[in-house]
Amino acid sequence: MKKFLIIANWKLNGDFNFINKNINLIKKIDNSLNFCKLAIAPPYVYIDYIHNYLKNTSINLVAQNVDINEKGSFTGEISINMLKDIGVKYVIIGHSERRINHYENNNFIAKKFILTKKKGLIPILCIGETKEEKKQNITEKICINQINSILKICEVKIFYNTIIAYEPIWAIGSRKIADINEIEKTISFIKKYISSINQKISKSIVFQYGGSVNKDNINNLFQIKNINGLLVGKASLTIENFISLVKKAEKNIRLLRS
Ligand code: 13P
Repeated sequence: MKKFLIIANWKLNGDFNFINKNINLIKKIDNSLNFCKLAIAPPYVYIDYIHNYLKNTSINLVAQNVDINEKGSFTGEISINMLKDIGVKYVIIGHSERRINHYENNNFIAKKFILTKKKGLIPILCIGETKEEKKQNITEKICINQINSILKICEVKIFYNTIIAYEPIWAIGSRKIADINEIEKTISFIKKYISSINQKISKSIVFQYGGSVNKDNINNLFQIKNINGLLVGKASLTIENFISLVKKAEKNIRLLRS
């Protein structure tokens, strides 16, 4: 059975001081885990530095983004080959902060997802609805559209062994996780949808939840059957909180699997 994957998405935070102070503590907690597995998504410029720290650990590196081009005159961009070169394993694709702040649309995101998978890294596709879309009761439709934009240009097998992170946009940074039943319902719906196209592919996908997960609300998330990982933003920036969150996740998964 796959380990429960907890990704610390540092977003635009952290510096050498933060890394030097915290990385050994993260390594220490990782050493004590049997059922969970950690990964860190630092800003690009620190990936290589952290990579050196993480040698001989099972902690993986995650990139927060990637360009659609492999090389060429694209000032300011980072390619998938470069990420591979410095030891990145996962790439976050289509985070809502990129959809909103950088106007990334479904089609553009689909290209990144496909390129990442074809190059042998694991894409983490972020999907989710806005507050307005939730009010209109169209969460499932929005999530399926986000997935269909990939299926329009590629066969379903592109999803084999990838990750889909359900991150309701309104829950991100709001200090309030989505309702447990709604998370369960949305993820089940997506699973069934992909399963209706290809059951084997659907089974191979890891589903994560992201949006205001912290040490105080994490226990509730283990009532959800279908998730096997979390994307943690703000709570990963305070080491005490993050360690407490990881310990609680480990305990919950141990109980669930014993
Ligand atoms: P917060 O945990 O800060 O809500 O962020 C979640 C997120 O966007 C993870 O990718």
